[in-house]
Amino acid sequence: MPQVHNVTMLGTGLIGMFYTMTMHGQRGRDRVQVVYSRTADRARAFAAQWDIPTYTDDLKAAIEDPGTDTVVIGLPNHMHVECVRLAAAAGKNILCTKPLGRTAAEAKQMLDIVEQAGIFGGYLEDLAYTPKTLKALATVKAGALGDITWARSRETHPGPHSAWFWDKEAAGGGAIIDLGCHCAEIIRNYVGKENRPLEVMCHADTLVHPIPAEDNAIALIKFESGAIGQFEVSWTFRGGMDLRDEVAGTAGTIWTNHFLRTGFEMFTAAKGGYVAEKAESESGWLFPVGDEVHELGYNHMFSDMFDAMDNGTQPMESFYDGYVINAILDAAFASAKSRQWEPVQLADWRAAAPARRIGATPALVDGMAVVKEERMHGNKLKQILCNQATGEIIERIIDLP
Ligand SMILES: NC(=O)c1ccc[n+]([C@@H]2O[C@H](COP(=O)([O-])OP(=O)(O)OC[C@H]3O[C@@H](n4cnc5c(N)ncnc54)[C@H](O)[C@@H]3O)[C@@H](O)[C@H]2O)c1
Repeated sequence: MPQVHNVTMLGTGLIGMFYTMTMHGQRGRDRVQVVYSRTADRARAFAAQWDIPTYTDDLKAAIEDPGTDTVVIGLPNHMHVECVRLAAAAGKNILCTKPLGRTAAEAKQMLDIVEQAGIFGGYLEDLAYTPKTLKALATVKAGALGDITWARSRETHPGPHSAWFWDKEAAGGGAIIDLGCHCAEIIRNYVGKENRPLEVMCHADTLVHPIPAEDNAIALIKFESGAIGQFEVSWTFRGGMDLRDEVAGTAGTIWTNHFLRTGFEMFTAAKGGYVAEKAESESGWLFPVGDEVHELGYNHMFSDMFDAMDNGTQPMESFYDGYVINAILDAAFASAKSRQWEPVQLADWRAAAPARRIGATPALVDGMAVVKEERMHGNKLKQILCNQATGEIIERIIDLP
């Protein structure tokens, strides 16, 4: 029987709003009962807007409120550790937004805190839960794409909406920490979470904005199976928020587009009002998003989190995943600096066994391995074959019956 969860929401900014909108939408039973904001005025206004009974500007009091069982952390990155510490001391379930930490060391601290306290630690990585990603992941897990060789994830937009994101110290970096965390976790899901990330090669630069952090980056992640992950992030992309993923395997490919031009296109010469997160215009040709919290994965994410709490299981995205992601991003920052492949330092790696190397046993024809077969006009088949003893490669065309 599902339980009802009463939530303390920390933060009344963009993500606090999205999370609350998700829980309070569609007649949901799990609701925010206490909201914390830095200023009492903002807390009061947010509580009134979302029909939340208790509001406060006292962080500790919000976390310790006896009327809630779950703390949702929607505050800037540099505050996550402190919030986790306080919530664990209060014995609450903890759901923390991305990135878990600014570094793997910080994320590991949070992982240790929840594990030692024996409490629930869910990592709120919504983009792994978009409806398209969940469907694609199920397809990949069922083997429809064969062995995954490559996964690409792209998140780009014109830059974040609040000052603290641009402060390298408070955020822990620029576009890599802010957007790369989403991309790297989408990639991990596709290549398999038991597939150890080994090394990262990253190029990062500050091309446009007058900030010390990177506003553009591209990185390759090498996994134990031989699969390659590729992420592209930017805070200088113009035209809204571009969220696209691609995954390729030995038997197939999936391409997904989650946000721009996904089948809802409109033109207005007047003002169209709110269009979508990070949309740059309210008029002209616009690409609205139907149900944004759904398209961005928030509904499925909270359902998974609360179901896991009720069932005493791990959610799809846990604090451990947040730690692995921070370790990948640490390697990306190190590589951007050294301009070399850098190892992913994972002192705590939990896969049951090493990942199997990609590659099927080749079919044999006349003692030679089939490299490729191609159907041709006239009911003929071209075969490219490799003599495994000598390495010689030949091609031949045969008539099909
Ligand atoms: N898709 C996602 O999962 C997603 C999207 C956006 C943000 N986030 C994450 O959510 C967190 C918050 O981001 P946001 O977009 O809501 O930011 P925001 O700037 O919109 O809101 C931040 C909130 O924290 C408060 N705050 C800022 N500095 C504070 C301080 N020193 N002490 C107390 N309160 C402070 C602000 O008043 C505001 O209520 C970040 O960790 C961010 O990475 C996740």
